[in-house]
Amino acid sequence: GVQDCHLFWGCIVGHDSIAIVDFGGMFAHLFATKVRRLKVLAEIRQPDDPVEAFQGFKGVILAGGTGESQGFNKAIFVLDVPILGCGFGHLEMARFYGGSVGPSTLSWGHSDLKIVADHPLVDGFVGPVWSSQQDVVTSVGPEFAKLAATVCKNGDLLPFTAVASDKLRRYGVQFHPEVDDTVDGDKLIANFVLAICGCKPSWTMETYLEQQIAAIRQQVGDQSVFLLASGGVDSTVAAVLLRRALGPDRLHLLHVDNGMMRKNESANVLDMFRRFDMDHNLHFVDATDTFLTALGDEVEPEKKRKIIGNTFISEFERIAKELGIERHLLGQGTIYPDTVETGANKGAQTIKTHHNRVPVIDQMIAQGRVVEPLADLYKIEVRELGELLGIDRELLWRHPFPGPGLGVRLLCSDGKVDVNEIAAIQQEVDRFIAKKGTVNMQFLALPIKSVGVKGDRRSYEHPVMISGGANWDEVANLADELLKTVPGVNRCIWNLGSHAPKSVELLPATMTRARLDLLREADHIVMDGLRRHGLYDDIWQCPTALVPVKIDNAGQELCIVRPIHSERAMTATAASLPPALLKELADKILALPGISGLTLDLTSKPPGTIEWE
Ligand code: XMP
Repeated sequence: GVQDCHLFWGCIVGHDSIAIVDFGGMFAHLFATKVRRLKVLAEIRQPDDPVEAFQGFKGVILAGGTGESQGFNKAIFVLDVPILGCGFGHLEMARFYGGSVGPSTLSWGHSDLKIVADHPLVDGFVGPVWSSQQDVVTSVGPEFAKLAATVCKNGDLLPFTAVASDKLRRYGVQFHPEVDDTVDGDKLIANFVLAICGCKPSWTMETYLEQQIAAIRQQVGDQSVFLLASGGVDSTVAAVLLRRALGPDRLHLLHVDNGMMRKNESANVLDMFRRFDMDHNLHFVDATDTFLTALGDEVEPEKKRKIIGNTFISEFERIAKELGIERHLLGQGTIYPDTVETGANKGAQTIKTHHNRVPVIDQMIAQGRVVEPLADLYKIEVRELGELLGIDRELLWRHPFPGPGLGVRLLCSDGKVDVNEIAAIQQEVDRFIAKKGTVNMQFLALPIKSVGVKGDRRSYEHPVMISGGANWDEVANLADELLKTVPGVNRCIWNLGSHAPKSVELLPATMTRARLDLLREADHIVMDGLRRHGLYDDIWQCPTALVPVKIDNAGQELCIVRPIHSERAMTATAASLPPALLKELADKILALPGISGLTLDLTSKPPGTIEWE
């Protein structure tokens, strides 16, 4: 069944596929999406995976990364399939086959390319290209031919920008074909995947759907599936798919109100299931008290996540027993990035514990008791599958909403502040401003911490609140620079209030119903504003968060609005909102009782994450 496939490193049978080795950064996922767009399945592998993990693939891509390759298992070079090294992967491969690597005078970013030999890899490929390496390949082993050189600013040529050995079936490019800045990058990827590896483009949504239906039937046998249905895109698509595979009677849906849903969300979700004829065997439980009791005084983000994840499972088990649903499997709408970001990939540090990946669930997965028919798909593919299943567009294009809900948007604190740490950060910030000479703006390091991501690592650092500034672009650019320069800061937020704060104070705060209600109101104002201004579809997601910070001795919650653009949530850029909408939000949200201020998050991911936790 599907489960076995994953346990035994198998690829989805019946399709040619490519393994992509993840050396960090977001490059591997970009590659996977681009390969999949060619209708060839791609799966992520880790540098230290054993050779067996690469069996069955028709080719391997060593994706460029952050320049660390701890435990890279070079045994994979015994594989008799084409291997393409990109960026960092290019360096590793050159070294392995007797070449050398050295520092380059080339600054990273864009450069022009000169093709010096005909080869299927660079057929129709022109450039310019984008690269991120400080080092470059300075010589290659005797079997390798030079295919392309980089044209330096002074006209010099860097000769080993693209190399190939058809005898060894090894290929390398210094740049990143998977990023959009490499014009024609898709062409080079297609050349490798289709022409060199000989993959047949058979991985279409139609065949995926057929295979998943068969796999679900095989795994579930004569048992039934109990699916946690949040009303979000993923679990809804999973529900429709499971129903298609199992028929109406062997699928039970459970919607849990964990007390951390949006305003009226549970009622709306139940109503939506009814409207779309999905209310057969639909169960509902308001478990607000259970969740809030379990969370108690916990303030630490990762612990909050674990408690929420575990409570979902205990509620689920309790209801299953109550309903007499025996011999059921747990259904989940887990998608591919959820399995990777949790660090299911060995070696990588846990960035966050996805609510679908707490240890109890891992145990159940090992026992084959979890059905996750979307676990191979990226969000965009889930939406595509949903369309194929005839699910309403309105439902498929809802903004993603995390399983732990407002639980990752309502920040808690024990109220303790490391005064020295804040002072040190503020000093660095002041030094930065002094250099910039921005006198009409205030930059203030806040005492609260939020989660972010740097390289492969989770960060837990302070935001800087910026007051003043003429317009979004000016402030966002400064914020960007500040984040690159000042250590200990992982976010910049822009004050939408009328004046710069004179004092800020961190308050102790936990997950309470009253705070959640306040956040629900603020979130409702934001979502309603986006819809009325016709921006809902342009913005990928727009979390609203509260942090327990008093400003100028007033209020106790600072509100943060975080509109972003993204494609697959692995990376994101901050989006601007029109001044008219910002004014509206300020008028309404600042009027809510207890709100101390309103800000707009200007941070991209990385270094911020989408949620604040
Ligand atoms: P971050 O905050 O890591 O979020 O940049 C990336 C995307 O994932 C969503 N998210 C979750 N979704 N369960 C979910 O179903 C979770 O535990 C979870 N945590 C984050 C987040 O909303 C964003 O779209």
